Amino acid sequence: MTPSPSPSLSPGALAASAAAWPLTLPVDPRPPQARPADGTPPHDEPGPAWTAERLRAFVRGAFPGERLMVLANREPVLHERTAGGAIQVRQPTSGVVTALEPLTLACGGVWVAHGSGSADREVVDARDGIALVRDGGSYRLRRLWLSAEEERGYYARFANDGLWPLCHQAHVKPIFRRPDFETYQRVNRRFADAVCDEAESLSPVILVQDYHFAFVPQAIRQRLPRATTVLFWHIPWPNRHRFAICPWRNALLEGLLGSSVIGFQTATDAQNFLEAVQHCLEAHVDRETNTVTYNGRRVTVGTYPISIEWPAHLTAQAPPIADCRRQVRQRLGLRDDTLLAVGVDRLDYTKGLEEKLLGVEQLLARRPSLRGRFVLAQVAPVSRGELQSYRDTATRVREAAQHVNARFGDGTWRPVELIEEAWSPAEVFTLMRAADACCVTSLHDGMNLVAKEFVAARDDAQGVLVLSTFAGAARELPDALVVNPYDAHAVADALERAIAMPAAEQRTRMVRMREVVGHHNAYRWAGRMLKDARLQRLEEARAAWRDG
Ligand code: F6P
Repeated sequence: MTPSPSPSLSPGALAASAAAWPLTLPVDPRPPQARPADGTPPHDEPGPAWTAERLRAFVRGAFPGERLMVLANREPVLHERTAGGAIQVRQPTSGVVTALEPLTLACGGVWVAHGSGSADREVVDARDGIALVRDGGSYRLRRLWLSAEEERGYYARFANDGLWPLCHQAHVKPIFRRPDFETYQRVNRRFADAVCDEAESLSPVILVQDYHFAFVPQAIRQRLPRATTVLFWHIPWPNRHRFAICPWRNALLEGLLGSSVIGFQTATDAQNFLEAVQHCLEAHVDRETNTVTYNGRRVTVGTYPISIEWPAHLTAQAPPIADCRRQVRQRLGLRDDTLLAVGVDRLDYTKGLEEKLLGVEQLLARRPSLRGRFVLAQVAPVSRGELQSYRDTATRVREAAQHVNARFGDGTWRPVELIEEAWSPAEVFTLMRAADACCVTSLHDGMNLVAKEFVAARDDAQGVLVLSTFAGAARELPDALVVNPYDAHAVADALERAIAMPAAEQRTRMVRMREVVGHHNAYRWAGRMLKDARLQRLEEARAAWRDG
């Protein structure tokens, strides 16, 4: 994955302000109960909205004396040596980083991650850490070094060639090799040790992220039995028949059940997990309380849709919408009156990029009047390029873009701008503010935070979101134009409707989506999991006291 420049995150210049949110949202006239709610209703929780301050106060009160620890494979910043010899700070393209950095900044604590930048080792202290400061918050980043062989077996192969296709319905066969599994287990133990070494108490609170770390909860429990470990699985969880493909399915489940709380994006994912446990292990699964009792320990399994920082800190620095439109049209060499749809996805077969391009082809075939005027600007940085399945996807997407451009483009206009370099978060924010529509066509996606970022970027309450029904975000955002990406005509319909939508309707939809994302923000995501973790911790303490 190519990281993107992120000047706002350089340690010296980490000074962006979390200024007050400038927009007062108009009140939605519909009563909350009457809203379309295909899943979680917009306001399912009484009380004030979750903010950085509320989360910080909650963590201090609920876990006195504990510092929050985060484990994620991807680090929030990479240090890289440039050709000129300088060290540059970059932020990776990662939904996990987008969601977690604001929380870690709010609560302080430590983030443990794989140190993957070329100059990472040159800037750390004697304990392989570095202090990061931004927006008045700070935390410690602890880096763990992996050999090329460890990175290949654990990250590229077992996690991304095995678990990733296992969990996503995108028609790519999972590849499982025993040596990779063994490397994955070994590397998981190394990460668990790094977390335990960073712990300042015998009962730390640890947020473990994603499918890279199925064995970490168990390994932490072996070293620190009183730790409270929350594992959040960011990607979908397959149904039990598909899960059965994994040769080490029981071991994976046992590793995960070392957690206190296991979180999923959607209720379906959580139910699929419970079914897998029921069929694979001799465990008691209680569907009423969504708990699993295994080896005498109870684990809570919950649904916690992930989200983004709200208000987004980039809003305070973002140029006005008119300037964003001008800047982006100039940068991409587009006419001023271009109808601009944007996409921002890693070049991954789950993202439905070929399907998006088929939709554009269909649109231009049926509406000649849009030729010369409509452009899809698709940012698609190369991702996991060490894997054949990703290289094949990249080739097909490039060919599809060339095909649409060859069929409709002329000497001065190309309908598809395929941008393979990673844009920084600030550049993406500007792009989104410049767009008439944002198009997400994932074939399967745990959540898709790009959809929520588009909503956050549009404080003018304009712009239309076209969103795949197979992205977790579609459950919370029925005011998007929700499409089946396998139906090119439906994608074309949605794009056509988006670029023709009257401003008043755009505003109504966008205001509702902003209300949902503003309320269902990343602080609430973490707060709800930590509330459940606290109950679990009290329960475990009571059980320990009972058992003497
Ligand atoms: O969505 C799954 C995920 O692993 C995220 O956790 C992460 O943000 C994204 O994919 C990027 O993946 P990678 O870290 O492999 O580049």
